[in-house]
Amino acid sequence: MQPTQSLLISLLGPIQQQILSIQTAHRKARNWQDKVALGSVRMLRWGMDFVTGYRSEPATATSMPQRYIMTEEKWITRFIFLESVAGVPGMVAGMLRHLKSIRRFQRDYGWIETLLEEAYNERMHLLTFLNLVEPGPGMRLMVLGAQWVFFSGFSIAYLISPQICHRFVGYLEEEAVITYTKAIKDLDSGHLPQWEKLEAPKMAIKYWQMPEGQRCMRSLLLYVRADEANHREVNHTLGNLNQETDPNPFSANFKSRVQKVTESVGVMGQLDPQSCNREV
Ligand SMILES: [Fe+2]
Ligand SMILES: [Fe+2]
Repeated sequence: MQPTQSLLISLLGPIQQQILSIQTAHRKARNWQDKVALGSVRMLRWGMDFVTGYRSEPATATSMPQRYIMTEEKWITRFIFLESVAGVPGMVAGMLRHLKSIRRFQRDYGWIETLLEEAYNERMHLLTFLNLVEPGPGMRLMVLGAQWVFFSGFSIAYLISPQICHRFVGYLEEEAVITYTKAIKDLDSGHLPQWEKLEAPKMAIKYWQMPEGQRCMRSLLLYVRADEANHREVNHTLGNLNQETDPNPFSANFKSRVQKVTESVGVMGQLDPQSCNREV
């Protein structure tokens, strides 16, 4: 092994540990806005389960009818449908905040870049899974219909209450983490034999910079699940903030400025706390 490769793997170690340690989690609904968001996600989840022939019991459940046993093909169908929907909110939210910033001649405080980054990340999930299957006309029609309904509905909802929408996405991402966790369990328990030796698509290897020896389907699912957990935290946090005035704490610009201020405080003693509180 080349020294550079071993260095890269040792640096990747902590990241790998984080990816492996992702857990399912649920944020309790605390007010009526949270309940609206959670109720909407549960309704959507029911629809998605119905469309993709999915039940949340483990694949080993003996009472489960054959039609609900998840195969590799059914998982991919579910992933594609899930990701085609998941790619919408970040783009809609980013676009609406962009337009508002222009319209009102005011700053956005760093939210847009994170929202567009999320949309890009979800599209990469979709494109990765599309390397593994050729969707038929039924699937294409379903995605088309879902996109039309979800894009329209989410756009209107975001104009009315962006806070509820971020909470909604937070709950949606909780479900995504649960879904990928279950797929990983199915794979580990030998119910998805076609994926045991399958290598991740080249596009995925490049996008996540998957290290050699960790480019299998299981690793891919772990990477995607880690992304979903990140979207979960980001959107629940954005849902807690004042949508008009709070800076985005996930913005790279915000983080580097906070870092600089922290260092400056160490050197100079005192700074105006508001000086790092605003983003472009
Ligand atoms: Fe995703
Ligand atoms: Fe996501």
